[in-house]
Amino acid sequence: MDLIPPVRLTLAHVPTPLEPLTRLPALGGAEVWIKRDDLTGVALSGNKVRKLEFLAADALERGADTLITCGAVTSNHARATAVVAARLGLHSHLLLRGEDERPRRGNLLLDTLLGSSLEFITSEQWQARDALMATAAERLAAEGRRGYVIPEGGSNHLGAMGYAIGVAELLEQEQELGLRISRIVHAVGSGGTTAGIALGLAAAGREEVDVVGVAVCDDAAYFNDAVARIADSTVAAGYVPSPIRRRTRWRILEGFKGEGYGIASPDGIELIQEVARHEGVFLDPVYTGKAFAGMLAELGNSAPSGGATVFLHTGGIFGLFSFADQLSV
Ligand SMILES: Cc1ncc(COP(=O)(O)O)c(C=O)c1O
Repeated sequence: MDLIPPVRLTLAHVPTPLEPLTRLPALGGAEVWIKRDDLTGVALSGNKVRKLEFLAADALERGADTLITCGAVTSNHARATAVVAARLGLHSHLLLRGEDERPRRGNLLLDTLLGSSLEFITSEQWQARDALMATAAERLAAEGRRGYVIPEGGSNHLGAMGYAIGVAELLEQEQELGLRISRIVHAVGSGGTTAGIALGLAAAGREEVDVVGVAVCDDAAYFNDAVARIADSTVAAGYVPSPIRRRTRWRILEGFKGEGYGIASPDGIELIQEVARHEGVFLDPVYTGKAFAGMLAELGNSAPSGGATVFLHTGGIFGLFSFADQLSV
């Protein structure tokens, strides 16, 4: 049984490499590969572009002239959306949770460079983010323009198809390299990546692969719910046959968000340094650094079932520059 994907643009540089990690002492000799989705592009670095290929295609079909989305002030998703808008000749309007800063750094600097219109919102307003984005679309409509609202993280029925389809790329590499993937570990921020990976594996008859999403905010109950809802929405949209959905499996790993979303711990900073120094790979303090810590714990805790662990590097490189103070040691 196959997936029935919707229309899609080609924006990501794929296939991204699948490379072995061999030098980091903390791996303890385990077989670990890294799927370099931080290399989906320079401006578009990260997991979000795989989702945006479907979301932006839908926006164009609907005649939109502006992409509207939301995220933290340091959001990779917001920056990737702004890049896609620029590439397609559209405007972007970003609702960003947090305060403006001068000079602007990291993703916020890039949003500025891309000419996005920015609306800074408080944590209280964030609770009403969907309504606020709808209001932004209404404002545009009153000017005779057409906004297209992309939910937080690009995680809906369309966005989830990014990894539902993207997993096939990884499975092809598995075959070419003669591996047997038994586990895929990645960061979870809104759930669309997890839902997509689980759906893609089930579609390929590979639901035995342990899909481990490391929560970088909220908790397992929240994300189990979110991932299930997103996966269900792909069935309702007609992209995923329900027998595939019924076979999806994933796990959410808690205990690695530290003090909270976007807060880096000294241990987290040290791990980012270690990975850079031994493997020449940059992780970020908000997502991939925490997910990598989760993966190391999984390597140590779980009974060895054999096979390869894949760490999905979901990007976040520009986030590093917002943590210059902590990283400058
Ligand atoms: C670098 C990075 N990794 C992982 C994620 C999490 O992906 P998702 O929102 O699909 O759970 C995000 C976005 O939230 C991200 O920017």
